[in-house]
Amino acid sequence: MSAHGTPIPMTSSKSGPLRGEAHVPGDKSISHRSLILGAMTVGETKVTGLLEGQDVLDTAKAMQAFGAAVEKKGGTWHIHGVGVGGFAEPSNVIDCGNSGTGVRLIMGAMATSPIAATFTGDASLNKRPMARVTDPLALFGARAYGRSQGRLPMTILGAKDPLPVTYTTPVPSAQVKSAVLLAGLNAPGETVVIEREATRDHSERMLAGFGATISTETTPDGHVITLQGRPEFRPQTIVVPRDPSSAAFPVCAALITEGSDVLVPNIGLNPTRAGLFFTLQDMGADLTFENMREEGGEPVADLRAKFSPDLKGIEVPAERAASMIDEYPVLSVVAAFATGKTHMPGVKELRVKESDRIDAMATGLRAAGIAVDEGEDWWTVHGRGFGDVPGGITAESHLDHRIAMSFLVMGLATEAPMSVDDGQPIATSFPIFETLMADLGAIIERSG
Ligand code: S3P
Repeated sequence: MSAHGTPIPMTSSKSGPLRGEAHVPGDKSISHRSLILGAMTVGETKVTGLLEGQDVLDTAKAMQAFGAAVEKKGGTWHIHGVGVGGFAEPSNVIDCGNSGTGVRLIMGAMATSPIAATFTGDASLNKRPMARVTDPLALFGARAYGRSQGRLPMTILGAKDPLPVTYTTPVPSAQVKSAVLLAGLNAPGETVVIEREATRDHSERMLAGFGATISTETTPDGHVITLQGRPEFRPQTIVVPRDPSSAAFPVCAALITEGSDVLVPNIGLNPTRAGLFFTLQDMGADLTFENMREEGGEPVADLRAKFSPDLKGIEVPAERAASMIDEYPVLSVVAAFATGKTHMPGVKELRVKESDRIDAMATGLRAAGIAVDEGEDWWTVHGRGFGDVPGGITAESHLDHRIAMSFLVMGLATEAPMSVDDGQPIATSFPIFETLMADLGAIIERSG
């Protein structure tokens, strides 16, 4: 379902202290992959902790359209899949709503089956580049017919006799890597993906869990991931860890809100995802990892975040960008409350997310009294220190959940309230955001 409804304006005001436990929802990346790999496996895969955000629900519906049975009973999602190469041709257009991950991974998964499928999305998704996925899928023998510049709506004709592929990803993107690996599942022989910078590796971990033969080698050219096609998948029982990208919001809210002490339990801390938390520690945040452990093949910890009035601006290492790519919007908010400059290089990919995230955040931050410099692949936030950030504006969320949540977190500590024109996209990834934040003591209200 696309986010076509009436906009929901929202406002946040100076709050504090934030106290208590924040049980954030399941990981979005792992949730999409559980549904897709479950749908490619004969037998019953069971998933608990699935994120029931709109993005993931759209992927569940898509998997039904390709022939899998997907239903929720009690707290568990049950997926009866059709096997690798077993997708049926959908009888209608697949609407992936707001989700780049959904559409790109599903295109990969169907591209080596002899079927056609037409994909569309909301106004945000239909602006985003798809050639980064359809270029490598063409090497398998698939064809793509979309709008100009490779935009959705788009029809993919899957390859009848797919060939295995060796592909070096031109941009650091786990979606591109995953689309190629999922396509490689139904190609005979070895499909190889080479990525210069490591991106989130949930696909590799989960493919191995389902029984694929897959290996990752670190070489001077980067990470070389080799997958054997046509595996015999075994159905899995998956417990989805809680999403570090959602945890980022209550964690950052606690750091900038006077007197706060918030525990965010059971957060997936896969090193390819945890960059924000190390960056916050480098800035002087009172943020600790408690009870470090491993669950379902992923490292997990409880995060404790306390009010941190002495944050310092830093140089965020460019090589850390992929491991915190979704967290730059909320990091830029924390940077506004730090003293000194926070420079964020190597982040060109932010310009092609649900919105141009550098532009969306820089525009709102400047209006709220924070100086921001930017180039094509970098930006710098000039922090004013705690107690000196004016706020008092309405920011545009551009159909982007993380932009909406970032400005609402900001308003918990600005001198005047912060509003967003539309909080509706928050439901794509974090449908319980409002109640969770209210339970901690945050003042966030619907203002329309
Ligand atoms: C994701 C990969 C990242 C990330 C997105 C989720 C994934 O996108 O921004 O939210 O689950 O593979 P890119 O592949 O475009 O970097």
